[in-house]
Amino acid sequence: MATLRVNSPANSYSIHIECKMLLRAGALISQIAKPQRAMLAVDRNVYQTHGQILINSMRDAGFDIHTFEIEAAETNKSLDTARSLYAAMLDSKLERGSIVLALGGGIVGDLAGFVAATFMRGVPLVHVPTTLLAMVDASIGGKTAVNFTKPDGGLVKNLVGAFWQPAHVLIDPATLLTLNDRQYRCGLAECVKHAMIADAGLLEFLSENRRAILAKDLGVVQTLIERSAAIKVAIVERDEHEQGERALLNLGHTFAHAIESFADLDIHHGEAVSIGLVAASHISVARGLMNNIQRDSVINLLIALDLPTRLPRAVPIAALLQAMRHDKKIASGRLRLILPVGLGSARIVDDVPNEIIEQAWQSVSPPHAN
Ligand SMILES: NC(=O)c1ccc[n+]([C@@H]2O[C@H](COP(=O)([O-])OP(=O)(O)OC[C@H]3O[C@@H](n4cnc5c(N)ncnc54)[C@H](O)[C@@H]3O)[C@@H](O)[C@H]2O)c1
Repeated sequence: MATLRVNSPANSYSIHIECKMLLRAGALISQIAKPQRAMLAVDRNVYQTHGQILINSMRDAGFDIHTFEIEAAETNKSLDTARSLYAAMLDSKLERGSIVLALGGGIVGDLAGFVAATFMRGVPLVHVPTTLLAMVDASIGGKTAVNFTKPDGGLVKNLVGAFWQPAHVLIDPATLLTLNDRQYRCGLAECVKHAMIADAGLLEFLSENRRAILAKDLGVVQTLIERSAAIKVAIVERDEHEQGERALLNLGHTFAHAIESFADLDIHHGEAVSIGLVAASHISVARGLMNNIQRDSVINLLIALDLPTRLPRAVPIAALLQAMRHDKKIASGRLRLILPVGLGSARIVDDVPNEIIEQAWQSVSPPHAN
């Protein structure tokens, strides 16, 4: 078992990473909270395969555990679902001090985290993430949120939320064996992002172990999770409320959000991030922050991990630029971008000329497009 400690002014907590740990999750949780009532908010797909194991281990440790199933869809990461979860918690007689467990990917983690942050002004939260993205990213750092549907029907992502640090994060890499390969690779894009921001050695590790990683060799995957999560931990410890450095975690994301706004591209978030990492690298080369060899090594790594490095079809550059400007990372009218600096470092830049951004979009468009 590996343990990472997160020191937060609000609440320090441990992240335990261990294969098959679900079997003894109840015993681990009983070390931080006395056995009592608890609510398990669980992803419906995960309930089938892993839910009962966690429930049994909680019962064996003396917890009175109740369950609330959630279908993992962005439209369900909503105030309506939060309301249903509050109601289930009231019915189950949860009280201040009762624990909320979130078993699933980032959707369940964000929603259950938001409910834990607000039920009776806050109850302890334990994240048990089951996607790679949630293991190395969403479960760490205390951001919780639900999406909001505007009166005109438009969905605003993560509009309503709170910072609420978990009491514990329990990561069982073996749960990834049931995650589909496409979702798993999306998590790999976030691991590459972390490595580009802070750990050139992790880029080498990813490259050297790409076959074992794609084959979900759990020993290698556990090391990847440990190293990638450690990067997020270090950043959120230094900047819990995203006043500065935490924004670096958005590397590739301004491009990704623009890509995702074209729903017909049928692209997952991690895939859009992968393309965004390439676009940001092109800009870094243009700005002299990276050399061609470094950029190409990033592109080759993403390709080796079976991630896209170009848009699946041509999209007018003007439309992409427009979508980018709608993204929230615009500081006083100037587009703020996170750019890689060499390998293993990144910085925030807000003075990239439009032509360079256009060229970056061109570079990630299909060959011969536009
Ligand atoms: N709080 C944060 O800091 C933070 C950071 C990044 C992303 N997020 C949020 O995370 C969400 C995306 O999360 P995600 O990528 O983990 O996806 P997700 O929660 O949508 O899960 C993806 C799919 O995988 C399934 N699944 C999950 N674990 C599984 C398993 N072990 N086996 C089989 N199927 C499994 C789910 O049912 C779902 O169909 C977004 O809403 C995003 O806003 C939050």
